[in-house]
Amino acid sequence: MSADRLLREIADVGRDAGRGGYSRHAFDDAELTLRQWFIEQAGMRGLAVRTDRNGNIWAWWGRPQRGAVVTGSHLDSVPGGGAFDGPLGVASAIAAVDILRAKGFSPTKPLALLVFAEEEGGRFGVPCLGSRLLTGALDADRARGLRDTEGITLAEAAAKAGHDPERFGADPESLSMIGCFIELHVEQGRGLIDMDSPVATGSSIIAHGRYRFSFSGQGNHAGATLIADRHDPMLPAAAVIAAARRAAAAARDARATVGRLVPVPGGTNVIASTVDLWLDARVPGAGRTAALVDDIAEVARIAAAEEGCRVTITEESYSDDVVFDEPLRRRMDRVLGGVPALPTGAGHDAGILAAHVPAGMLYVRNPTGISHAPEEHAEPIDVDFGAVSLAHVLEELAG
Ligand code: GLV
Ligand code: MN
Ligand code: MN
Repeated sequence: MSADRLLREIADVGRDAGRGGYSRHAFDDAELTLRQWFIEQAGMRGLAVRTDRNGNIWAWWGRPQRGAVVTGSHLDSVPGGGAFDGPLGVASAIAAVDILRAKGFSPTKPLALLVFAEEEGGRFGVPCLGSRLLTGALDADRARGLRDTEGITLAEAAAKAGHDPERFGADPESLSMIGCFIELHVEQGRGLIDMDSPVATGSSIIAHGRYRFSFSGQGNHAGATLIADRHDPMLPAAAVIAAARRAAAAARDARATVGRLVPVPGGTNVIASTVDLWLDARVPGAGRTAALVDDIAEVARIAAAEEGCRVTITEESYSDDVVFDEPLRRRMDRVLGGVPALPTGAGHDAGILAAHVPAGMLYVRNPTGISHAPEEHAEPIDVDFGAVSLAHVLEELAG
């Protein structure tokens, strides 16, 4: 089945009527429906499905063996995200199997499809949970204790979905199954529009981290409290938002974003007692993200003190710069007849795996240049071109 048709099959799963787009979060109904859909698709093709200790789903073409050629992506989304970030890579992996079967190919190296559990961190805050746990980049105890906005822990959500969270953690056995990993992904910027190409290989990912700033002040009455008497945590929070933009604009190739801010209690006529915000900071180069965050943290401390508030700052995740395996990238490029190589500011499970195995990415053009929003798009013709390209790459690597 074509990748475009596979995507149409899941087009109604997890639509978010309020935000627009899709909200599919780790182990929620929508994501579980998609996981089941993937398992059924794999079963229909006679692929042997197993779920590893961290909830990642593997579908094997042939007998599971070490050193396999593995391809896949994720099925969760950001809140109100697009239809393609994640599912495109999964649908394309399934479609690539169909394409290869239709031409009579049978792999001489083991080949597997892999769906990672939770890439966006949309529910539990830490991105690439499945690949971080698998590789040991995330401590299992810390993962088990991560909480969503309702206070449900990852351990509870995973257990409810039928997984055993006590088994979470580094999984060298599963990792050794991966000889190389290819993730096909919708492009998340305008690189391929500018280059006028339907696909590209990935060259690198810039370092990125997530930082929680928790401000506390004194909740109070919006009308009865004189300005001079306030300890309003929204003030230092606002200073951080402005400082993040200023700092990123002043540093080469830097990005800094505050996309989430939670005032408590959150009433129009209430001075907040606490405000939590999350800073997403991304700067290429060793130590540069930390330096940027230090500058913003200094603004936070000064602004909090001026308002008589307190602040605590916690790094929730960090990933160094990734340079994808160059021999693998060149091999993909050769098979595809020469395509652009794109650096990206977006994080991926392939980036986490790249520290352990040769990993590569294949991007598919996004004509809006917009991602993590309902406007994210890929034209059906490019979607199918991407799947054919992935099939060529798999044929080369597993043939
Ligand atoms: C994932 O898409 C990220 O880069 O945050
Ligand atoms: Mn994403
Ligand atoms: Mn993604």
